[in-house]
Amino acid sequence: MFNLDKEARRILESNRWTTKGFQYTIPSHDTYPYQWLWDSCFHAIVLSHFSLEDAKKELISLVSHQFEDGMLPHMIYWVKAEAIKVDWGKNDTSTITQPPILAYAVQDVYERTSNKAFLEEIYPSMMRFYRYLVTKRDPLDHNLAGIINPDESGEDNSPRFDKALNVPFDISNETHFRRRLELVEANKACNFEVELCTSKNFWVKDVPFNVFLVENLKILGSLASLLGRTEDAEFCTLNAGLMTEAMREYMFEDGVFWSVMDADHEKIRVETWAHFAPLFAGLYTQEEAKTVVQTHFHNPKTFYSPFGIRTVSMREESYSANGFWRGPIWMSIHWFIYHGLLRYGFTAEAEDILKKSVKLLELSGFREYYNPETGEGYGAKDFTWGALVLDMMEK
Ligand code: GLC
Repeated sequence: MFNLDKEARRILESNRWTTKGFQYTIPSHDTYPYQWLWDSCFHAIVLSHFSLEDAKKELISLVSHQFEDGMLPHMIYWVKAEAIKVDWGKNDTSTITQPPILAYAVQDVYERTSNKAFLEEIYPSMMRFYRYLVTKRDPLDHNLAGIINPDESGEDNSPRFDKALNVPFDISNETHFRRRLELVEANKACNFEVELCTSKNFWVKDVPFNVFLVENLKILGSLASLLGRTEDAEFCTLNAGLMTEAMREYMFEDGVFWSVMDADHEKIRVETWAHFAPLFAGLYTQEEAKTVVQTHFHNPKTFYSPFGIRTVSMREESYSANGFWRGPIWMSIHWFIYHGLLRYGFTAEAEDILKKSVKLLELSGFREYYNPETGEGYGAKDFTWGALVLDMMEK
């Protein structure tokens, strides 16, 4: 019989590495032998249920390679392997970031210990990271954070980025990857300077990234108050508010939020799970949320599938049931949707997502992503963040 708790612990332990005195969890032995930014936040969230010390170590190692300007890189190599051949221009880390859910993870760990020592230890790096995102990632003061590469969204080849990348809807995963490599080269030529890279090469203000930033700034604001850092707390609260307003002003249309590109905020009208992401930060009114759930969640022709919520609407011409981020189900996305639904009191829908997530694990194991129509698992095996289902179960 499948035992979620036992399996989650097994994966967290077997994917755990220690290098140079730092402990971290790799996403998977097959293909991802490094430490990833948002993966490690998910890992810490799960670890906080059964091993607080390991959860703390996961986050401390994550901030160990912070850049001068405060950016946290999306990959830390620790031990250089053959698996990743992309040259990001640095020896020990990549030169881009990933979705900012660090404050959420820190809060989860803190809440279970109420021990301020860990909070004090990680706080300065954490604050520098969010200050970097709020200031440096918004060169024209629009109150929205921009990404300079689709990989910064964590949804590498999502069709939300096709237009900004100038690629066709039926592009293969391999060609898409090559196109993103060209972007890395172009950004390298700009020395990864945000202002230059965004004005020349690629600039998307993505819905989920900004949703996570708003919610995490609110969390960080309360953590800052707890530590008596009044000025930081005010910075966080103020910017969470400004970003919420800006998202509404530039991204909201036809009842949902759309990612926007370039300085003039052109809307990218591609239907993806980003419609549900704002639930996570409470950015819809209760009425709007109800409409989103009725129109999009409960629609088998778009998002609702036998195994959960498709990352891309089936109505999109780019939809592909095995297309990596172009349709398949991902557990981290289920986790965000689950919490978003609960926040608004849609308990039956949340239960449905949880049940389907457990079913996927039982049927196909902890795989990187899943076919929404058949439940077949794809990509990396023993993929660590599948263990997020445990966190869904316990909240
Ligand atoms: C893939 C995913 C990304 C994840 C990484 C490591 O690149 O697209 O979101 O962080 O794998 O698991």
